[in-house]
Amino acid sequence: MKILVTGSSGQIGTNLALKLQRDGHEVFGVDKRQNTWTDDFPYLLQDLAGHYAAFRGGINGVEYPEVDLVVHLAAHAKVHQLVRQPHRALENAVMTFNVLEYARLRHIPIVFSSSREVYGDVHRFEDYSEAVADFAYTESTYSASKIAGEAFVYSYARCYGLPYLVFRFSNVYGRFDNDLHRMVRVLPLWIHKLSRGEPITVYGEDKTLDFTYVDDCVDGITRGVMALADGRLSSGTINLAYGKGNRLLHAAELIGRELGVDPQITVAPPLLGEVTHYVANVTKARGLLGYEPQVPLEEGIKRSVEWFRSWRVDHPEEEIAVVEDPDRTAGDIPHGYKQPAGAA
Ligand SMILES: NC(=O)c1ccc[n+]([C@@H]2O[C@H](COP(=O)([O-])OP(=O)(O)OC[C@H]3O[C@@H](n4cnc5c(N)ncnc54)[C@H](O)[C@@H]3O)[C@@H](O)[C@H]2O)c1
Repeated sequence: MKILVTGSSGQIGTNLALKLQRDGHEVFGVDKRQNTWTDDFPYLLQDLAGHYAAFRGGINGVEYPEVDLVVHLAAHAKVHQLVRQPHRALENAVMTFNVLEYARLRHIPIVFSSSREVYGDVHRFEDYSEAVADFAYTESTYSASKIAGEAFVYSYARCYGLPYLVFRFSNVYGRFDNDLHRMVRVLPLWIHKLSRGEPITVYGEDKTLDFTYVDDCVDGITRGVMALADGRLSSGTINLAYGKGNRLLHAAELIGRELGVDPQITVAPPLLGEVTHYVANVTKARGLLGYEPQVPLEEGIKRSVEWFRSWRVDHPEEEIAVVEDPDRTAGDIPHGYKQPAGAA
């Protein structure tokens, strides 16, 4: 198949594009940033958040190669950043609209990357099956952007018969997530800090999340792509996670153990807009896609630390203090960070 992956320079996009290629598909990526991990698949640099009028050929009239399906991952993906900069939430919705228009004109299926954030923090200790999402309750502007994206997708299915799958991801971690100069994610940040002997802060003493190793996430997406392509599924909203909760504090301890250090941890209250307890029910993914997550947190952290270390050996210039600035925007390069060779 020929597959368009938006957000192809991001963590999930890079892992997914490489896997689809390994599986024998042709991948074409679109992202507004260069891929800092690999040159192994072709992609176009394009800002997908513009208010465009032309969608023939490609978004904003740019000629894309012919594709059979779109996986739409491009987004501002940091919850707290969008609370502080809500215009980015609107950009997420605009990107989804643009990608949907492109898919509608070609009548090709779309896979949309939603989030467990659409559930908000209200069901905390109930069962998170897909049907409990209540869109009248919206935890954050990021949640709003994903709810808006889902709503657009459902409306395109109803009005134009567009085939789709919506996946709700949860805390994806592992390979290609350590570009901390761009986007601070909790597990690679802690690997970075603890390996440098620096203290870390855990926001939410009891915060319990469903951490998903990236290979499990990408396996689930690939299964969805195949099910859409061969017509087994034409619609569906599916939780894609490991299916088990782990306290953030436990994750910090596991990283410390893997690095052989005793972590210095400060506990602080959760940040505004954050979900504090989420364990996915993945029964639907199992039933519809034969999805069986393979990597529990202990093993995932082991693999993540190994990968992080091997990347650092080849990129010693990244061995600098990380500025945890929640307002930093995707694509911004902080002062003092050395750009990768070949970057614009
Ligand atoms: N990683 C997770 O834990 C997680 C959890 C839930 C949902 N998601 C969703 O999955 C998707 C992929 O997440 P990720 O972790 O790979 O994030 P990421 O930030 O690594 O990748 C997103 C990519 O989108 C690109 N992008 C942003 N704005 C753009 C624009 N205007 N035009 C073109 N490209 C643009 C970014 O440059 C980035 O490369 C996102 O939609 C995210 O919201 C991720």
